[in-house]
Order: sequence, then C-alpha cells, then structure tokens
Amino acid sequence: MLNLKDFLPSLRIKDNKIFVESVDLETFKDETPIFVYSKEAINFYINKVKNAFKNYDTKVFYAVKANPNINLLKIFRDADFGFDTVSKGELFRVLNVEKNLKNTIFSGVGKRKDEIEYALKNNILAINVESFSELKTVKNIAEKLKKVADISIRVNPEVNPKTHPYISTALKKSKFGVSFKEALEMYMYARQEKFLNPLGIHFHIGSQIFEVEPFIEALEKTLNFVKVLKEKGITLSFIDIGGGWGVKYSPKDKVFPLEVLANKVIEKLKKFDYFLKLFVEPGRYLIANTCIMLTKILYIKKNEEKTFYICDAGMNDFPRPSLYKAYHHIEPLYQNKNEEEIVDIVGPICESGDFLALDRKIKKCREEELLVCFSAGAYTMSMASNYNSRLRAKEVLIDKDKIKVIRERENLEDLIRKEIF
Ligand code: LLP
Repeated sequence: MLNLKDFLPSLRIKDNKIFVESVDLETFKDETPIFVYSKEAINFYINKVKNAFKNYDTKVFYAVKANPNINLLKIFRDADFGFDTVSKGELFRVLNVEKNLKNTIFSGVGKRKDEIEYALKNNILAINVESFSELKTVKNIAEKLKKVADISIRVNPEVNPKTHPYISTALKKSKFGVSFKEALEMYMYARQEKFLNPLGIHFHIGSQIFEVEPFIEALEKTLNFVKVLKEKGITLSFIDIGGGWGVKYSPKDKVFPLEVLANKVIEKLKKFDYFLKLFVEPGRYLIANTCIMLTKILYIKKNEEKTFYICDAGMNDFPRPSLYKAYHHIEPLYQNKNEEEIVDIVGPICESGDFLALDRKIKKCREEELLVCFSAGAYTMSMASNYNSRLRAKEVLIDKDKIKVIRERENLEDLIRKEIF
C-alpha cells in the first residue's frame, strides 16, 4: 500500500495538495528545481537511531557524503552526533560547525598526505586506515607533527550484502579495507610505533542493505578477530560497524528493521569478552526521506511509443535514477483524481540516460504542473553536477511554517568563476 509518509514523515495533504510540515509546496512554483528539507523529518530519523541504540554505549557518526550541507551538519551536531568523513573537503565542512575533529572519523581508500595532516592537526578522533602503505604514511606524518595518531583499521569481512554492485563494499574483489590477515600485521606494526595508537576496528559492508544477517555475519567475524588481537596483547576501545541501512524508495521496498539490527548487535557486544564502545555511521538512513525535490513539467511530448513529461530537473540535479536505475517515487503536487497513464519522466539534458523515471504509472498531468520527487535527501545534492552548464538548485529547510534558505541557487557567474580567460 502506498503511504506517502513512508517517503517523508512530515508530509501533510491539505486541499488535495502536498505540504511539507505547514508549508504549501506551491510556494516554490517559480523556483524549480528546488530541494525542500524538513526539520521535523530529520528529527524523526535522529530519534529513531537514538532509540534503537539507547541500551548500549553508542556513538552515531553521520556520513557526510550523503548530504554535506553545513546547515544539516549543524542539526546532527546539535543531536550530539559525530561525523564520518572521506575527504579534506568534508573535514572542512565539519570544521564549520565544530571547533575541532574530536567527534569525527576519517575514512577512505585514497587519502592524500595533506588530508591526513589536516585531520591530525585538527585532532581527528580516529583515522580509519585502509592499507599498510597508508598506515606507514600516517605514521610518518604523525611523527613529523609530533602528535600520536589514533587509528582504526578497516577490515573486509567478506560478506555479500545483496545490494547494487556499485555499493557493495565487502566482497573479496572489493578495493575497500584489508583482510584480517593483513590487519593483524598492521595492528602489530602500529602497536610498536610510538606515533600510532590502534584504538578501534571498522567495517562497512555496503549501502542500501535490507537484510540484518550480513551485518551480523560481519560483526561475528570481526569480533573473532578482536579476540585474536587481545591474545596478542592489543585491546581496542571501539568497534565501528559502518552504515548502509536500507531506506524505502518505492512502495515495494521493505522498511529496514533497525531495532532488530541494533538489538542483535547489542546482544553480541554485551556477551563479548570485554567492553567495546559501538560506533555506527549511517548516512542515507538519516537524510534520504527528509527531503523532496520539486520540478516543473515544461513540455509533454508524445510519439507512437511513449509519452514524455519533460521536466526542468535532470540527471545533473537528481542523478540516482540515471546512475543506478534507482526508483524514486514521484507524485503530482496536486493529488488529482485523473486516470493514470504510463510515461517517461525525463530531464532536459542531451543524453538518453537523463531520466527521473521510466515507464512510470502516474495520474495524468498537464504542462506547467509540479511534480514532487521523493527521497531526495541522500546522494542527490551531494552528487549533483553542473553538466550541460546547468546551475545547481536551491535548497530550503522547513521548520513548521518557517522557510530557511540553506543554499542559494547558483548563478551564471558561478559557472565560470574558476576559469582563467
Ligand atoms: N561509511 C562508509 C565508510 C561509507 O563508505 C558509506 C557510504 C557510509 C558510511 C554511509 O552509507 P549509508 O548509510 O549512506 O548507506 N551514491 C550511492 C551510495 C554510496 C555509498 C558510499 N558509502 C547511492 O546513491 O546509492
């Protein structure tokens, strides 16, 4: 059954129209494409995560890559969340809302030296190391700065999370993390280095995962390895189980059983040989279903085969359908009673891959009508581009009846600002 609140808990229908909290989306009719976030919805997901893990000493790190807008980071900071980052740019964003990086972890397979230095200088909580070479680089930089680097090592527990191949990260052939065998050598090396402090262990098995078992399998394998470390005299203080929790994009998707995952993880940790603090790094789960993108139908075009709704938002604004053939639910702003038709909802970009939805059943719309594209909070603005020299969209944050602009629409000058003539 279709329940639009699954895609935005703070959605209301009034006068047959979709509202976000108390704001009529028609307010933005001349500003499309636009991203509209809801503070109530963000708080809804923050509380869901807090509640799920309330029975264990858990720290939540919001994965900045899902959506890095500093106004959103501020909301997560105020909720006492830390940040999971993967670049100097993301570290810089965090430093716009926090004094230092004491609540931030730094992951990524290819960190540059200047990035590692920046993280250490700003007192990063832990650098999550992904190879032996990187470990040695971290050691050298720490030594140069005369600062002990707290580190964790990302292991590859080799489990199949059964998700899109682009976002499975713990298969044997994956570039992420290291095997337990290699990790052991790395921990042994780190232990005898004055400027390295092995503090934790980390895995992240992929994204948009709906099954609990792959997480538990990864946890069990990793805890067994933590026991081996203990026998070698290495005691850790945290285990980071990554993010990857699935979110509902389509009426057919399940709801991710977060409480089940949390309870199973907590049970395992409570039974473990010694106390390990739990870290989690959700991105999508916290932000995907807190935002919609509003777009206008510019033209309706029919040929013998198809009907196209040609919109003012394209793959540069809303890349997931083109990139992953991802389904995002789309509804007319006016919940009309028209009969349904099957259409391709496409953008204006010069590529056949530029679509928001293919062969989609939708209540018949007219030109100039507005469409609400759901689940637009995660990996949407953060992956948006200027392709076709299009201006990246405006973002607003709704709090009850208040509208706060959190990112201006780009202007033409922004397009060539960095070009040297
Ligand atoms: N931690 C690490 C180390 C990660 O690599 C990721 C995501 C996360 C946490 C957060 O995962 P989440 O909870 O958001 O699933 N662009 C793709 C998703 C790529 C995810 C990359 N890593 C998409 O649009 O589906």
